[in-house]
Amino acid sequence: MKQLEIAVIPGDGIGKEVVPAALDVLRTIAEVHGGLQFTFVEFPWSCDYYVEHGKMMPDDGLQTLQGFAAIFLGAVGNPKLVPDHISLWGLLLKIRREFEQVINIRPAKFFRGLPSPLANPNDFDFIVVRENSEGEYSEIGGRIHRGDDEIAIQNAVFTRKGTERVMRYAFELAKKRKGHVTSATKSNGIFHTMPFWDEVFAQVKEDYPEVQTDSYHIDALAAFFVTKPHLFDVVVASNLFGDILTDLGGAIMGSIGIAPAANINLNGKYPSMFEPVHGSAPDIYGKGIANPIGQIWTAKLMLDHFGEDELGSVLLKTIEDVTADGIKTPDIGGKATTREVTDEICCRLRQLA
Ligand code: NAD
Ligand code: IPM
Ligand code: MN
Repeated sequence: MKQLEIAVIPGDGIGKEVVPAALDVLRTIAEVHGGLQFTFVEFPWSCDYYVEHGKMMPDDGLQTLQGFAAIFLGAVGNPKLVPDHISLWGLLLKIRREFEQVINIRPAKFFRGLPSPLANPNDFDFIVVRENSEGEYSEIGGRIHRGDDEIAIQNAVFTRKGTERVMRYAFELAKKRKGHVTSATKSNGIFHTMPFWDEVFAQVKEDYPEVQTDSYHIDALAAFFVTKPHLFDVVVASNLFGDILTDLGGAIMGSIGIAPAANINLNGKYPSMFEPVHGSAPDIYGKGIANPIGQIWTAKLMLDHFGEDELGSVLLKTIEDVTADGIKTPDIGGKATTREVTDEICCRLRQLA
């Protein structure tokens, strides 16, 4: 029996609706599978917690999380209560950084039953590998100079180590897929970091002669996601480019509400964290209509991470079947609630037993 202790942080907004949904699905999978058991330990860390305690998590929060096999997170952010840069850097980004979750994997594919807004979705299926620890999200050297001539400065930091690491990860992943890596660059405009990014990409690709490569400027690449998404297999991108590309990845599937993500710790010192691409969606929170698929597909990535790829595939197929049968939330053209979609997925998983 494989026993997995998972730290659960629903967080804010629809995180509190889609996380319980995904936990029901994981419990059902464990029930059906037999050889797998989850213990979920929930933490209320969120903007509400901040209002009460003046911090997003307790001072020993990271120590508490460290012993878990993985962290399963919903979304963080309630700008009406706490400014985003405080809430995000106090919880989500803090965990990513301190737990050295240096790679962010974000798949997107043509999803059966979903109204893709694309005229020619052409069965696209790609994974964006996003650098998750540095780049444009650097904490180093930035500041705001106040006074008559105010200036805000943000430094982008691209280390050789971090850049090479994310690229190698992308190439290794491509070897297990269609053998193609696309680099997201902007070396025509961003003077120092992106020529460096290209230089490292050229060097890393020498080690993978069996992998095909290409490289597009991020502006053109974003357009190709819309016009020719089938071109892509693995796309490697810096932190900010990867962030933007993956909301677009969700959008071309049909909704950002279905896009999954995994923040991976590579050195085994800390747990990895699984959270969907979308945020806390304050505009729909409380209506019971949040799409749970992003969080449930994220649970599939967690199953893959634990070596349960077969179960993961069964889960993804079940989600697609339910969607194709029209049981879907309003963001993807349906009338079902979060609960109805979740119950249907659980029901079909039980029927497989
Ligand atoms: P968002 O992803 O929360 O919402 C963007 C749009 O997508 C909204 O119209 C929303 O209703 C819709 N949407 C998102 N998820 C959905 C779902 N599951 N089902 C149906 N519709 C869905 O982005 P935002 O509005 O820019 O951010 C809201 C808050 O979330 C902010 O505080 C932001 O900082 C935070 N945020 C957190 C994360 C995270 O924790 N990983 C990610 C992105 C944004
Ligand atoms: C994401 C989010 C975060 C990011 C924000 C909320 C800090 O947009 O996970 O995609 O930019 O990484
Ligand atoms: Mn984002």
